[in-house]
Amino acid sequence: MSRPPIYNGFLHLTPNHHSHGYWRTSEGQVQHGYKDLDPYIDVVRTLERGKLDALFIADVVGVYDLEYGDGKGTIRAGSQFPENDPATIVSALGYVTEHLGLAITSNIIQDHPFSFARKLSSLDHYTDGRIAWNIVTSYLSNGFRNFGYEDIVSHDERYAWAQEYLDVTYKLWEHSWEDGAVVRDAESGVYFDADKIHTIDHRGERYSVQGPHIVEPSPQRTPVLFQAGNSPAGRAFAVRNAEVTFLPSFTPESARKDIATLQADARSIGRDPSTLKTLVQLSTVIGSTEEEARRKQQHLRDNIDFGGLVGFYSGGSGIDFTSIDPETPLSVLRDQVQLGEHVRSIFRSIVDADLGHGRELTWREYLIDHALLPGKLAGTPEQIADHVQTWVDAGVDGFNVVPITTLGWWDEWVDHVVPVLQERGLAQTEYTEGTLREKLFGRGDRLPASHHATTVGSGIG
Ligand SMILES: Cc1cc2nc3c(=O)[nH]c(=O)nc-3n(C[C@H](O)[C@H](O)[C@H](O)COP(=O)(O)O)c2cc1C
Repeated sequence: MSRPPIYNGFLHLTPNHHSHGYWRTSEGQVQHGYKDLDPYIDVVRTLERGKLDALFIADVVGVYDLEYGDGKGTIRAGSQFPENDPATIVSALGYVTEHLGLAITSNIIQDHPFSFARKLSSLDHYTDGRIAWNIVTSYLSNGFRNFGYEDIVSHDERYAWAQEYLDVTYKLWEHSWEDGAVVRDAESGVYFDADKIHTIDHRGERYSVQGPHIVEPSPQRTPVLFQAGNSPAGRAFAVRNAEVTFLPSFTPESARKDIATLQADARSIGRDPSTLKTLVQLSTVIGSTEEEARRKQQHLRDNIDFGGLVGFYSGGSGIDFTSIDPETPLSVLRDQVQLGEHVRSIFRSIVDADLGHGRELTWREYLIDHALLPGKLAGTPEQIADHVQTWVDAGVDGFNVVPITTLGWWDEWVDHVVPVLQERGLAQTEYTEGTLREKLFGRGDRLPASHHATTVGSGIG
């Protein structure tokens, strides 16, 4: 029998992840602890109590909107700014947990692949094989300018860059050390069998790395690989590399189609689609009654910092949303604002979706009621479990649970929703022993032999 769905707790080490401005409310003040260790220790202990699979720490390496509006919208609002470094907290979180996976986001622009591979191997040792990597290429111009580039590198070139980056790490993780290289034989005085440890001699477009890898193989060698790519280049990258990928799907019906597309892409390169898990975002407001949940949802929406939200959308899309009057009806944006095909096509699809059920929505209403990530579904634990079931029926393998506040909120999920999910067989009640890869896939600690990583090492050793 296949395992119950995967659940990750989703957060950033920042004052506002997606609930822009909510820190101003009494419930939201917990976010001031974003730079302290203790609140995150509480989070991982709670997630482990609820038998969630992993903590998923997202990250960016720049400000979203320096080039939009007055350039200060997200800074003023503390919207995904500042950002502490996910890798710095993982040892501590691993130390206070036993089973929880720890997925960290790291950008190909922020770290050289040699030092990054070293860092992740070290963390995989310290956590007994519970590390995952969310591979991202960055979508922020300011991020690129922080690392010496004029501006953001073009979309498909970023994926080509990411592939070389991964190939370097695969060579270090999978091929530099043969199995059996660790001898530790006091009698002969041989700690490592030097004939089984190899330089990788990578010479590519962006990187030259001699090796060998300077950390001994960790329990998983390569960390579990997460990725989110919806474009053709992103999907090609996902089916070649990812073990867990995020779907762009807004509804279970679209998930069904997106999974079919992804599986066809996987088959076209000879990959067994069952080795690739799919996740979607699960964003809820929980109430003991539907009415209570709706009240809490309204409270969230009433307290959104619109400047932070708009700056966040501008930076993420590369489109200047600050120049749009928030009270403009969507159809006016669609028909009159000359903003380029990309924007117009967004407005067209929003208007066509008739989110207002016959009533015209304004841009502000759309952003706050529909585009805002947290709290999309307001309901009782039973209603949330019904909703989960519809996604599972569509073939989705799991969820990134989006909290209202990244700190403090998780007890609500674990105490009220998890038991209902568990009762219905929609969440695990115990952890499987072993590494994160074994827990998620049940096929051992290492990447499957058919993975692309095995082929990049030919000639090493
Ligand atoms: C659940 C989820 C988490 C993501 N986390 C990050 C992140 O932490 N940092 C980042 O730079 N991009 C993040 N992204 C963006 C993706 O890496 C990617 O840029 C996006 O899905 C667009 O891919 P595409 O250009 O191939 O369509 C995330 C996307 C999703 C759906």
